[in-house]
Amino acid sequence: MQAYADKTRTQGHTLALVPTMGSLHEGHVSLIRRAKEEADHVTVTIFVNPTQFGPHEDFDSYPRNFDRDCAILADIGGVHAVFAPTESAFYPEGTDHHQVWVTCPEMTKFLCARNRPGHFEGVLTVVMKLFAACKPHIGVFGLKDIQQFILLKKMIHDLSLDIKMVGVPTAREASGLAYSSRNEYLSPDERLQARVLSKAVIVATELIKNGETSSQTVRDLMKKTIQSAPLSRLQYAEIVDSNTLHPIEDLSSGMELIAAVAVYFGEVRLIDNALVSVPLD
Ligand code: PAJ
Repeated sequence: MQAYADKTRTQGHTLALVPTMGSLHEGHVSLIRRAKEEADHVTVTIFVNPTQFGPHEDFDSYPRNFDRDCAILADIGGVHAVFAPTESAFYPEGTDHHQVWVTCPEMTKFLCARNRPGHFEGVLTVVMKLFAACKPHIGVFGLKDIQQFILLKKMIHDLSLDIKMVGVPTAREASGLAYSSRNEYLSPDERLQARVLSKAVIVATELIKNGETSSQTVRDLMKKTIQSAPLSRLQYAEIVDSNTLHPIEDLSSGMELIAAVAVYFGEVRLIDNALVSVPLD
């Protein structure tokens, strides 16, 4: 992969990278389309990264559809390379003996990080390795995983990587449900009810745009919206600063915020978020 990237760079091409864990859906496809606009060579990676799954999470059952993924990529066209390392190629000493990790303690205290210890260290470390393998000029990521996106931007900045981050808005089904590889675990009833996630973040942004200044009030409305789905189990409904990811209590003029939710349907954990600015006084 490194030799291929070197050759492509020497020929004067720009390289965009779209890292994925496979089981490709419309969300991934929107990233690939954007990557094609950003650069003349596109690499897609497919790697279900063991180090970002907790011991009780769904690593073993995570959907894996490599042949179908390759067919989807062939169909879209314009993807020049698919990089799908084996686990032993990426973690030759085994994940338990991997020594060097990328961490960001201050920004992994909140949102998903609070409920998924070690998750973002796994993500940052594997993306660092994917960057090293694929040598892109541009990394294309989804804003659906907003905490991941912000942490990766911080990693690029703090480690002085010569990579431009491009964030792509969340692709959604007609119901508003964000595309996710985990949607395929949902029963038909759960899938119908899962539209409350997007509803919750939309009502939050509307409330804030209309001048609400109490984060508590906004969070309560998000909770109520989620709880209107009887099969849902709320994990969090938060309002955080979009740069630091710190929870915000009092909303004041000009703040850039993220309204974010994480919700279980059975064993399936879904997330959604929306960016919103507090109106100027
Ligand atoms: P995965 O969940 O496969 O997502 C790959 C990329 O697709 C991420 O950048 C994610 O934000 C984006 N994505 C997922 N659903 C989306 C949607 N509905 N709309 C727009 N973009 C969407 O995120 C990961 O894999 C992994 O953590 C990874 C970065 C590959 C590291 O292992």
